[in-house]
Amino acid sequence: MVARFSVEGQTAVVTGSSQGIGAVTAKQFAAEGANVVVTSRSPEEIDAVAAEINDSDRPGEAIAVECDVRDREAVDALLEATVEEFGRIDAMINNAGASFMAEFDEISENGWKTIVDINLHGTFHCSQLAGQRMQRQDGGGTIINFASIAGTMGSKYMSHYGAAKAAVVNLTTSLSAAYADHDIRVNCVAPGLVGTEGVASQMGIDPADVDRSEVAKEMGLPAEIADIVQFLASDASSYVVGETITAQGVPPLEDALP
Ligand SMILES: NC(=O)c1ccc[n+]([C@@H]2O[C@H](COP(=O)([O-])OP(=O)(O)OC[C@H]3O[C@@H](n4cnc5c(N)ncnc54)[C@H](OP(=O)(O)O)[C@@H]3O)[C@@H](O)[C@H]2O)c1
Repeated sequence: MVARFSVEGQTAVVTGSSQGIGAVTAKQFAAEGANVVVTSRSPEEIDAVAAEINDSDRPGEAIAVECDVRDREAVDALLEATVEEFGRIDAMINNAGASFMAEFDEISENGWKTIVDINLHGTFHCSQLAGQRMQRQDGGGTIINFASIAGTMGSKYMSHYGAAKAAVVNLTTSLSAAYADHDIRVNCVAPGLVGTEGVASQMGIDPADVDRSEVAKEMGLPAEIADIVQFLASDASSYVVGETITAQGVPPLEDALP
């Protein structure tokens, strides 16, 4: 790894890393020499990801901490556990996200609020609480948010999710300005369709088949998103601030987007 693209020696918190892009990102960061905090609402799954990292020859270490990003106190406890274990937070990777497909008229108030709560309010809690800790440490840090092409072009069957992700894009710009004087760079990645467990379950296919299925040819791989996250966490992106990097393969993918 060229030094400027390195995350070696960093401590990265990866929300939603029990599976999908988050799990792949956590494993990749550990392989590149970062210590990682694996976190989601599912203790067994995050323990398994952390154990896989610690039982491998990856140089980085992992701990697993249960956390629902909607719960501000739980997020604070997650960050406290991170600092207790590793001393600091270099990269706050706000990957946790969720959606379900529904016609606009079929979305209940509760369904709308749940999706906005996880994708937007979760990002707010994690960014603000991590940002405040980064301001108290030498060298600042990076915050990497997760939007979606559903948030940049809209989505007929995921208007709640698209609205929340659009807000994450805007929050990224605002936060980057708010934190610029504190040596904290804030950026965002907006994937197109990526073959993950979450997408497999929404499309009704077995997650084990996601890499082999015909439809997977239209999808990105989680590792292709993890590479962008690593770039944004590294010094190689030092002049990239407040940006949302879209990765959707060869556009247009409108037909693939629910
Ligand atoms: N895959 C795609 O095509 C695609 C496209 C555009 C954007 N994205 C975005 O990329 C990110 C990762 O997507 P993915 O496909 O890898 O997702 P995924 O396979 O569905 O996994 C989602 C992760 O988020 C966690 N999570 C959900 N709600 C949470 C909550 N309230 N608190 C903490 N963790 C929570 C889940 O763990 P638990 O259920 O255990 O909590 C899981 O680890 C998301 O932000 C997603 O919106 C994905």
